[in-house]
Amino acid sequence: MDLFELCKKVPKVELHAHLNGSLSEKTLTTLDVPQHLLEGYQIINNLAVTTPEKLNECFKLFKIAHDATASVNSIYVATKHVIEEFYKDNVIYLELRTTPRQESNMTKEEYIAAVVRAIEESKDFITVKLILSIDRRHSMEVSKNALNIILEMHEMYPDIIKGIDLCGDPSQGTFHENLFIEARNSGLKITLHCGEIKNDQEVLQMLKFKPDRIGHGTCIHPNYEGSDELWKLYKSSSIPTECCLTSNVLCGTTSTYSKHHTREWLQDELPFCINTDDKGVFNTSASEELLHAIENLNLPKTFLIDHSLSAIEYAFASEKEKMKIKEFLMDWKKQNQGLFNETVSK
Ligand code: IMP
Ligand code: ZN
Repeated sequence: MDLFELCKKVPKVELHAHLNGSLSEKTLTTLDVPQHLLEGYQIINNLAVTTPEKLNECFKLFKIAHDATASVNSIYVATKHVIEEFYKDNVIYLELRTTPRQESNMTKEEYIAAVVRAIEESKDFITVKLILSIDRRHSMEVSKNALNIILEMHEMYPDIIKGIDLCGDPSQGTFHENLFIEARNSGLKITLHCGEIKNDQEVLQMLKFKPDRIGHGTCIHPNYEGSDELWKLYKSSSIPTECCLTSNVLCGTTSTYSKHHTREWLQDELPFCINTDDKGVFNTSASEELLHAIENLNLPKTFLIDHSLSAIEYAFASEKEKMKIKEFLMDWKKQNQGLFNETVSK
């Protein structure tokens, strides 16, 4: 079995996937998208795949997906498709994240309910949890209103809505820490996009806040535009980092896969997991991300299944659900030991 086949076969855990960034071309075609928007998406998508674009260029892509999911029905259909695609890639546990959006025919509550409905309908074949995002570009007032809605919906769907995220263009906006304190006190887990670009003061504030996980963590280590002080603090906190290789390479925050900052996490044996970020925009998959990791970061084949076993530890599901998935993964590892012993041909 070649290495990519093995990456596909392994049961996987995905913890950092933005819903609207995960819409594949096929999904956009299925949705009632005006043709000119679809063509625009394809052109930019292909450009992004072949040419390393700057981070702010990547952010322009999300507008197209947002136009395609501007109704209750389209966000529901889009969620169903995204879940199915991860499932077909052998992802057994998925944490989807999305920023609740109000549109002319849809409230933020309706948006969240539609995503939850699609998740509930998938529960027989894949475990999916939802993280709701706050966009750092939004004002305190808008974000406070979003948080109130998120807390209300969390009370209605506590088994599905598990966490809150801070995302959005890192060159803009701010981290409204008070809102995240409130979210934490209400029982939500916290993940923050942290240090995607150099911003020592904000990284310091975020690390001191002690989120349950961070996204990217690019500019923390001194070799990657961070500092000794930040790295020391990060190391003492041991917060798991959600690494997104292709996203960083295509957005230009990392020069190549083999120079990705995950190397420092491996060197110092710090907790991390490998993720897609926006599999539609960056034309990738959970299996492809693992392949890039194995091929470029000098990792053994067993990393594939051991990665799932460690990532599930960092998941926001209940301890009982995590234990069940862990047992499944351990059984799978035992039964498929041979796959990791045989010589892999590329
Ligand atoms: P949505 O929240 O489901 O609409 O997914 C798209 C949104 O995710 C974008 O508008 C961004 O705010 C956010 N996002 C996607 N990728 C990144 C990233 O790499 N850094 C920060 N925010 C991101
Ligand atoms: Zn992200």
